[in-house]
Amino acid sequence: MKKELVALTINGLTHELAIEPNALLLDVLRRDLNLTGSKRGCDDSSCGTCTVLVDGTPMLACTLLAASCEGQEITTVEGVSEHGSLAAIQKAYGDWGGAQCGFCTPGFIMAVKHLLSVNENPTEDEIRAALSGNLCRCTGYTQMYQAIKAAIDAEKQGMAMSR
Ligand code: FES
Ligand code: FES
Repeated sequence: MKKELVALTINGLTHELAIEPNALLLDVLRRDLNLTGSKRGCDDSSCGTCTVLVDGTPMLACTLLAASCEGQEITTVEGVSEHGSLAAIQKAYGDWGGAQCGFCTPGFIMAVKHLLSVNENPTEDEIRAALSGNLCRCTGYTQMYQAIKAAIDAEKQGMAMSR
C-alpha cells in the first residue's frame, strides 16, 4: 500500500512520518518511533494495555488508525513523567508494588491520568468504573488499587499546597 506523509504530535513533539493509510497507531508508536511503553495485549480492544490519550481522551491504540490522529495531541506513557521526575501515579506504583508483571501498567497509568484530569477526587466506585476497561492478568488488583489511591492522595495534597 502506498505510504502517505502524516504529522503526528506525540508527547509534545511533532513527527513527520511516511506510513500506510491503514497503519495502526500502536504499530507506529512501537515500530516507527520506538515508543514501546504502550503494549499489545490482545489486539481486539479488550485489554486496555495499549491505552493512550488523544486530545486527553483514552483511546485504544491497537484499533486506531494513526493517520486519523493527525492534528491531535497524543500522549503515551512515555509522556507522563513531569519535568524528568516520575508522576505521582508512577511513583505510587513503585512504592506499593502495583506493577506485578508490569505489562498492563502503562494502560492503567494512562487511564488514571485521564480519570484525575476529569475528577480530582474520585470515589472507590468511580476509580473502579474508570479502570474497568483495563485488565491485569496477574489477578493482583489489590496493590494496584492501593497505589492508585496513594497517587490520588498525593495529587490532592499537591493541589492543596499549590492553592
Ligand atoms: S492491545 Fe489494545 S485493547 Fe488490548
Ligand atoms: S501486572 Fe498487569 S498483567 Fe501483570
